[in-house]
Amino acid sequence: MCGIVGYIGVDDSKDILLTGLEKLEYRGYDSAGIALLDENEVYVTKVKGRIAALREKVDANTAATVGIGHTRWATHGEPSEDNAHPHQSGSGRFTLVHNGVIENYSEVRDQFLADVPFKSETDTEVVVQLIEYFVAQEGDVLAGFREALTVLKGSYALALIDNQNSDQLYVAKNKSPLLIGLGEGFNVVASDAMATLKETNRYVEIEDKEVVLVRREGVEIQKLDGSVVERDAYVAEIDAADTEKGTYPHFMLKEIDEQPVVIRKIIQEYQDNEGDIKLDNDIRQAMQRADRIYIIAAGTSYHAGLVGKQFLEKLANIPVEVHIASEFSYNMPLLSENPLFVFISQSGETADSRSVLVQIKALGHPALTITNVPGSTLSREADYTLPLHAGPEIAVASTKAYTAQVAVLAILAVDSAKAKGMDLSFHPLQELGIVASAMEALTDQKEEFERIAKEFFATTRNAFYIGRGVDYYVVQEAALKLKEISYIQAEGFAGGELKHGTIALIEEGTPVIAISTQENINLSIRGNIQEVAARGANTCIVSMKGLEKDSDTFVVPAVHELLTPLVSVIPMQLLAYYAALHRDCDVDKPRNLAKSVTVE
Ligand code: M6R
Repeated sequence: MCGIVGYIGVDDSKDILLTGLEKLEYRGYDSAGIALLDENEVYVTKVKGRIAALREKVDANTAATVGIGHTRWATHGEPSEDNAHPHQSGSGRFTLVHNGVIENYSEVRDQFLADVPFKSETDTEVVVQLIEYFVAQEGDVLAGFREALTVLKGSYALALIDNQNSDQLYVAKNKSPLLIGLGEGFNVVASDAMATLKETNRYVEIEDKEVVLVRREGVEIQKLDGSVVERDAYVAEIDAADTEKGTYPHFMLKEIDEQPVVIRKIIQEYQDNEGDIKLDNDIRQAMQRADRIYIIAAGTSYHAGLVGKQFLEKLANIPVEVHIASEFSYNMPLLSENPLFVFISQSGETADSRSVLVQIKALGHPALTITNVPGSTLSREADYTLPLHAGPEIAVASTKAYTAQVAVLAILAVDSAKAKGMDLSFHPLQELGIVASAMEALTDQKEEFERIAKEFFATTRNAFYIGRGVDYYVVQEAALKLKEISYIQAEGFAGGELKHGTIALIEEGTPVIAISTQENINLSIRGNIQEVAARGANTCIVSMKGLEKDSDTFVVPAVHELLTPLVSVIPMQLLAYYAALHRDCDVDKPRNLAKSVTVE
């Protein structure tokens, strides 16, 4: 969480930093700040709130060619102006922005900074004070910066300004993402390439425990021992237009609409000239060697993993366990002899998943990351990567990444089955083509979903979603979508489980939404709906063509029974979207959340 940006060049850095921060707001948006260095004077502006408020507050008359900025998701200390970054050392010489969590900040404060007065409750202020402390000891800024880094434990992406040197930014990273963007006569630093695409598309990666001296005319990467590292730059393949809303009112709606295109892109990317599945042979072999697959993920990606388990078990006959990353780390199950770990993560930066990756790598197990961001931490640190090709997903509520994850998992499962010599009648690439058209038919009916959302969610305090089999996995995702953006308390239950306790919560008018896309459960889920209707629930059934009844609220087009989550989830996404819209919620940036969850 949190996003940082830095600039050193010849132009006024103010607007470059603010525009960059706007692109990073998905990483946290409770407070923000920038520091501009002009000659030896540093101008710091901070606000509680969004970048728009920061933009208003920044003095239009201050111009500087060096600057750093930050957008925050609070971890230590409430969102406030005092706790907003940048933070400064006691003398005011050093100014710092930080993304990450310093685990030993209170020990560091006690050991080195007992006499130093602090202005904020943040771990970051400890870092900048520690840097000043070591610079005084070492008599040199770089040596002091490095010394401070050797003491710190935890995660950080740091950008530091020294007001006595306007020709250099000091940058370092450990576990938190950070890139250096390269330009002509300027260089930039950012948590995500998206923040600096207006300036450059050439980047160089920084690895953990490296320090970078960023100057106007070049960058120098060093290890903590001072040895210089040479690393090639690469060109980021992100189209700046993909990071804009265009004519859409919200990124979430745009991203929901993009899903048919994403599915078609996946078909194209995972198909060879003969129309067969195209997959890296190393991944194919890793799948063959595995006697059990452990899927590790969080949130929506976890829900995609549940659907993926069905594919892998039913099609490829491989046993699969799906684990919530934050639980796995502290409660590791007994592992099979030849496990393969599959990390599913839109961002590729989720700290909970990364912590599992570090654990299982230490045990010597292979890992595959399925991500929308090749080059992300989970992608770089795993042995293999399967990209989602979904394009940047900016709304905090994940939509197109979920359907892309499910589609890629289906392809992986079929490829593994074929590699085992299994004869399948299921052709995922053709079937995904049908799915893309079905998705289009659904996204064309927005008025209908807006009407249903008004009917069921306009004033309710809570809502229940029920399903059985694979529909149960989709209702869990449906409930997450609704609660995170509309703040309606929502739960996704297995239809048959309600009567074992939860049905006690059903009152007159409680919305209960059921999904029915599978022939073998069609009657039983309808029975569960009858049970809640008899107790006063306001019921809604979303069924699949061929299984529908006249009284159903909405019927989705028929697709292959294995791929139904890809279409049944679309009404759920749109219902959540319109519920949030009509309750005047901030759809793209819901309260308390951030898109990329880089703290454990
Ligand atoms: O980037 P990841 O897929 O690893 O993120 C995992 C979750 O934080 C994410 O899916 C979250 O649940 C979304 N906000 C849900 O819409």
